[in-house]
Amino acid sequence: MITFSTINEVTEYLNQQKAAGKSIGFVPTMGALHKGHLELMQRAKKENDLLVVSIFVNPVQFNNADDLKKYPRTPDEDNRKLERVHCDVLFAPDAGEMYPEKVTKQYDFGQLDKVMEGAFRPGHFNGVAIVVKKLFDIISPDRAYFGEKDFQQLAIIKKLVAMEKIPVDIVPCPIVREPDGLAMSSRNRLLTAEERKIAPFIYKTLKEAKLRRNHICANPLRQMIINIFEGNKQFRLEYFDIVNDETLQPINGWNNKVGTVACVAVWLGNVRLIDNIRII
Ligand code: PAF
Repeated sequence: MITFSTINEVTEYLNQQKAAGKSIGFVPTMGALHKGHLELMQRAKKENDLLVVSIFVNPVQFNNADDLKKYPRTPDEDNRKLERVHCDVLFAPDAGEMYPEKVTKQYDFGQLDKVMEGAFRPGHFNGVAIVVKKLFDIISPDRAYFGEKDFQQLAIIKKLVAMEKIPVDIVPCPIVREPDGLAMSSRNRLLTAEERKIAPFIYKTLKEAKLRRNHICANPLRQMIINIFEGNKQFRLEYFDIVNDETLQPINGWNNKVGTVACVAVWLGNVRLIDNIRII
């Protein structure tokens, strides 16, 4: 694996590789790598000549300074994991390299970023879009791989690619879960042992929503699941919603022709966790 920390060096190297006819599979990350990331990488490695990974804890997507400070950083462990999946290129810039000037760009994603994560984390998706566009410009990947755990992020990135006409295939990859159902996330390592034990309640409740969909309409089901989350005082619910998988707007009734996903964000102690489940 070759590691680059500057834009000039990585683009020069990748331009040579592209001139030699190599295809590039790209997995952007913020590090603290877990099995979910590694599955994206294994798939990217299989489907492309070169696997390129970026690690950059992107300050402009954090709407909370404390969250940015607390975000786990595990560079040595990450390097070992990257070697294990035979990563070819690691791009690990610092904030000065990525943002030499103040960032002012404002994207308009319509209603897509007004709900769920967008409503609770103002500016978050604008920051994600800024860094992803910049990384795509630097790496020029053929394919880029994103996990479906960040379901809304995936929708925003697809929209960004369409709006900016970026020639890259976005490859969505299924959520990877721990054996007890907890969705893999870099934030899981911030949970205490006690919190980690109760965290699978999130997925268990999402599965309950999926099961009940055959017996109850969307609006009462939404309220029932909100009540279950709110009834468990170990968690603090931020939102639970059942949405159209393309527009991300809440649905009011079932329609087997409309892809439907239930999404949740909860706090467990000081850790904010998100998850989702496909209902239709
Ligand atoms: O999903 C993440 O880890 C980040 O939001 C991403 C896509 C790497 C942009 O910083």
